[in-house]
Amino acid sequence: MNLESLQSTIAARHTLKVLADPEQPWDLPAPEVRTQVAELLEAASCAPFHYPADKSHRTEPLSSPVPWRFHALDGAHCRQLLARLKAEQIESGNIAKMLAAADAVVVVTWLPDPQDPPLEIQQYAATQRNMEHIAGASAATQNLLLLATAAGWNSYWSSGGVFRTEQVYQWTGIDPREVLLGAVFLFPEDTQSVPTKAGANRDSKGPAEAWSRWVEVEG
Ligand SMILES: Cc1cc2nc3c(=O)[nH]c(=O)nc-3n(C[C@H](O)[C@H](O)[C@H](O)COP(=O)(O)O)c2cc1C
Repeated sequence: MNLESLQSTIAARHTLKVLADPEQPWDLPAPEVRTQVAELLEAASCAPFHYPADKSHRTEPLSSPVPWRFHALDGAHCRQLLARLKAEQIESGNIAKMLAAADAVVVVTWLPDPQDPPLEIQQYAATQRNMEHIAGASAATQNLLLLATAAGWNSYWSSGGVFRTEQVYQWTGIDPREVLLGAVFLFPEDTQSVPTKAGANRDSKGPAEAWSRWVEVEG
């Protein structure tokens, strides 16, 4: 265990959106990137979770009890999705620019408990179990960001934009009962002088006293 290296990886992780020209998508990453991303996913899955996902979600091959699913697009499929969005004239703003640059995107979903009658896509009940499913999926997502940082990628946790739509769920083969938690973009370290954008809230956290306190319990 090396506390210092963990602390420096956590401190080094930061949002960087890499905004390439969608008309000039970047060359595809080397084929071994797919293996490297698979290794990150494996390591990221070492995350805490409390309740197993409902049995109805646990269909082969995605049969795990963990409350999240990782749906990974390699560079080629990022470009393919970009082309499809263009062909269907679906406006996707910065997502299109980022699909033009990404080495990979990992669409992270979480698995809400079923409701009767079933809810619309992206809807879920505000139960404690669902909150804990989200918490476990978030822990796995942060693991992924930290691992990507340590491996030298620029990264960005996006709310997902167009990835959240029924149409893109269909194209990417994601079960509509899964709720999107984020689309994690992995960009090459070298951003090739295209515009980049940092996270809007990066420096807003304030000192420890502004978000933590020692509890004093009266005897
Ligand atoms: C659940 C979640 C969703 C996010 N969605 C967006 C988003 O849609 N657009 C965006 O600009 N940033 C998004 N972010 C990134 C934040 O803007 C960023 O984390 C924040 O500004 C802090 O910057 P940092 O990541 O560099 O520390 C999201 C972050 C989280 C955790």
